[in-house]
Amino acid sequence: MIDFRLGDCLEIMKTLPSKSVELSFTSPPYNRKRNDKYQEFNDINGDWYEMNVNVINELLRVTKNHVIYNIQANYYNRADVYKLIGLFNKEIVDIHIWEKSNPMPASGKAITNAVEYFIVLGSKSLKSNKTYTKNIITTSVNSSMPKEHKAVMKYEVAKHFIKNFTQENDTILDCFLGYGTTAIVCDDLNRNCIGIELKEFYLDMSKKRVEKNKREKAEEQIKQAFIDGMKEQLSISRVVVPKDTLCDNNKNKLGMCNCCGDNNCHDDFCRG
Ligand SMILES: C[S@@+](CC[C@H](N)C(=O)[O-])C[C@H]1O[C@@H](n2cnc3c(N)ncnc32)[C@H](O)[C@@H]1O
Repeated sequence: MIDFRLGDCLEIMKTLPSKSVELSFTSPPYNRKRNDKYQEFNDINGDWYEMNVNVINELLRVTKNHVIYNIQANYYNRADVYKLIGLFNKEIVDIHIWEKSNPMPASGKAITNAVEYFIVLGSKSLKSNKTYTKNIITTSVNSSMPKEHKAVMKYEVAKHFIKNFTQENDTILDCFLGYGTTAIVCDDLNRNCIGIELKEFYLDMSKKRVEKNKREKAEEQIKQAFIDGMKEQLSISRVVVPKDTLCDNNKNKLGMCNCCGDNNCHDDFCRG
């Protein structure tokens, strides 16, 4: 179940009981001191450091296992990022890295920023659902972003964390939901999600993305059931194909061989 909540995350989190979600996975706004990422949200004003301290403390209260807090250190926020890491040094159990294989190049000889941090906080060490899980993940960046929100999380990155560090039916909290990537991953992996977003427009877009995702999955299931049903019928009709009739290897509309029902049949002399 996806539980969408509109409002300031600090206010809404107050209504959540302690240790009521298994994992928190979230990305606060960047604090780039210019509004080049969001059409709806103002990323310029306010005390960004103070806001993060309050949010992380509240996330630690409502979360049973780990808080995974994604930050990209930039020219404007990096002093605050390193201050946050210092402040929460006792709660931080690891810092995972997202390496971008095709980051936006820096100008001239300046260093291209190719990483984002996923700060893992909690009272016990993080354990994965599989062996040999590294604390680094490498992917390309999103090939495009909606014009109203240019800070949408890469689906594969969110999936990596949620798949490896939670179980089916767990509840994951994203208190800065944005365009809802966390909610979509939870929907795909049979996890519950509480998604909080300050801006109604973004929350609506999240809801629409999740609805579309559900629709596409349902259509895919119907298509698969139809294909399975056809395959079954074809295997029955296979029995009645006379053995001396050579197959012309005609494929039906679903791409299956009319004789044996196999999608990959390339045998011009298939006899079923
Ligand atoms: C970096 S984006 C999150 C992107 C998200 N991970 C996604 O995949 O789309 C940060 C989001 O936090 C929202 N936001 C900012 N302050 C907030 C607050 N106090 N409470 C809830 N949401 C807030 C912004 O509107 C923005 O959509």
